[in-house]
Amino acid sequence: MLNENELWLLSFYRTSEISGSLFFGRLARSMKPGPIQRDMTKHFADEALHAWYWTSCIEKLGAQPLKLTEAYQDQYLVAAGMPANLMEVLAITQIFEKRVINEYARHSRIPDVDPVVRETLDKITADERWHIEWVRKALGTMEADYGKELIEKTLKRFWQADRQVYSKTMKEHEERVQYLLNKRSISKESQKNG
Ligand SMILES: [Fe+2]
Ligand SMILES: [Fe+2]
Repeated sequence: MLNENELWLLSFYRTSEISGSLFFGRLARSMKPGPIQRDMTKHFADEALHAWYWTSCIEKLGAQPLKLTEAYQDQYLVAAGMPANLMEVLAITQIFEKRVINEYARHSRIPDVDPVVRETLDKITADERWHIEWVRKALGTMEADYGKELIEKTLKRFWQADRQVYSKTMKEHEERVQYLLNKRSISKESQKNG
């Protein structure tokens, strides 16, 4: 059974994965033939599957996903600005994927997370690792055209935008994860003491 916070969080992940999928899907559609076109298409399909995994996970736990309007991704481009070229697209993707994997890692630190949730987190995290990896490699191939320095500067710029968006839009997410982390450790403590 899911409590209110858990249902909100899993629904939030589902919504975020849908937004990610739509974002990468549009990009994949606009790509010229080549390895980036291939990997971006796989990436888009992964995010779509992740949205399904969360839907199915929530269903297995006897609930239905909440309809949440705002996804973290939607705020992203507002703060970071529309990427101007392929290098910027990859840079923003890299920063974004790192944020996602950190969020999932944080959730998996909640001590007695339901096994169905844990399984879903593990399955998705394996894909998210590949997302970071292919983008890192693709960015490496762009050094000849853009220069290492500019790529690093761009990553830094998007990293700053990410922190801005995070502090604004992820507040509710943060509070709910924190609540679960605290509540679980308090109940563990009282088990030990009581
Ligand atoms: Fe994902
Ligand atoms: Fe991803």
